[in-house]
Amino acid sequence: MTFKLPTLPFAYDALEPWYDEATVKIHHTKHHQAYTDNLNKAIADGNIEVSSIEDLLQNLDKVAMPLRTRVINHGGGFYNHNFFWESLAPVEKSTPSAFLKESIEKKWASFDAFKEEFSAKALAHFGSGWAWLVLNKNKELEIIDTHDQVCPLSLGYEPLLTLDVWEHAYYLKFENRRAEWIAAFWNIVNYGAIEDRLKKALTK
Ligand SMILES: [Fe+2]
Repeated sequence: MTFKLPTLPFAYDALEPWYDEATVKIHHTKHHQAYTDNLNKAIADGNIEVSSIEDLLQNLDKVAMPLRTRVINHGGGFYNHNFFWESLAPVEKSTPSAFLKESIEKKWASFDAFKEEFSAKALAHFGSGWAWLVLNKNKELEIIDTHDQVCPLSLGYEPLLTLDVWEHAYYLKFENRRAEWIAAFWNIVNYGAIEDRLKKALTK
């Protein structure tokens, strides 16, 4: 099985002014492409049987070391970026539905309180990694962070939303000001995608 870099669900400039065209283009065509290529190399080198990227990341113990590290890094990089792009939408489409708001407000005091906790987790994350809204094994919403390219699927979670806090995701526009990147992100969240993922995860 060979993986292909997915086409973005929007134009490179569609997230302006919150996420600039140059960063989106480099992030997709250079960084995401490199993870895709390196994942394919790891699969070929190890002659690994793969049915899907999700299955691969949920069953890392079936991949022998040291190949497993390459699958974690590049398989995670491939999946996490697919998931990240699908978590974003142009600002005019970025409004949470009643279902999603109610689900969030069952867990947090308010929708803003959820955003504050997610933002704090993303800001406090040390080094490269990701902030996530996930559904845990008890079907409860939870905010987590993962290091480098570790994917929540490998930890038993169902991912619902993610934010890339690797410097490559924001440095060109925001330099070292991660807090500004996080604030911009909330304008371009694809809430419809989160709701779809949540509904699917709740029925699994
Ligand atoms: Fe990235």
